[in-house]
Amino acid sequence: MSRALYPGSFDPITYGHLDIVQRARKLFPDLTLAVVENPRKAPLFSTKERRDLAEQALAEVGLRDVPVTTYSGLLIECAKNMNVEAIVRGMRATSDFDYEFQMALTNRDLDSGVESVFLMTAGRYSFLSSSIVKEVKQHGGDVSKFVPRCVERALERKLGLGRPCESA
Ligand code: PNS
Repeated sequence: MSRALYPGSFDPITYGHLDIVQRARKLFPDLTLAVVENPRKAPLFSTKERRDLAEQALAEVGLRDVPVTTYSGLLIECAKNMNVEAIVRGMRATSDFDYEFQMALTNRDLDSGVESVFLMTAGRYSFLSSSIVKEVKQHGGDVSKFVPRCVERALERKLGLGRPCESA
């Protein structure tokens, strides 16, 4: 059975990511979600927080059996070490294409034994990113349609947006 890796920053994980996991595991039942330790942009959450949130979010949506790991260094090295045949990525709008194209061809050049497989995002999540979720939450917006409750609570704690104190 072919094994696959779903890598990302997951800073934090969103319903868009979880939708990709749900669909990818139909193609690759042996799917592992991999949280990168050093994302391109300085993360809001630590590696452990992003990993823990991914595990909690997967459990919250009934995907508790999907394992979560972390990696540092090159994605293709992680893929080789885990002996996977495919790297799964979600593709949103054309804005994702250039980076994904460059990453996929570079990784294929580094190791042609690992294919990059792309799933088009569900329409309802095509606008969604971890960055926009953080920005909306930062400004007091409702993100309950974008992330599971455990992630929303973690954002409230991390951004110092605890529930308004009850009236005395
Ligand atoms: O969620 P993201 O930020 O789009 O995920 C990008 C990620 C983490 C998959 C990618 O940046 C990555 O794996 N970086 C680790 C270093 C690496 O392998 N870079 C790609 C070289 S082709």
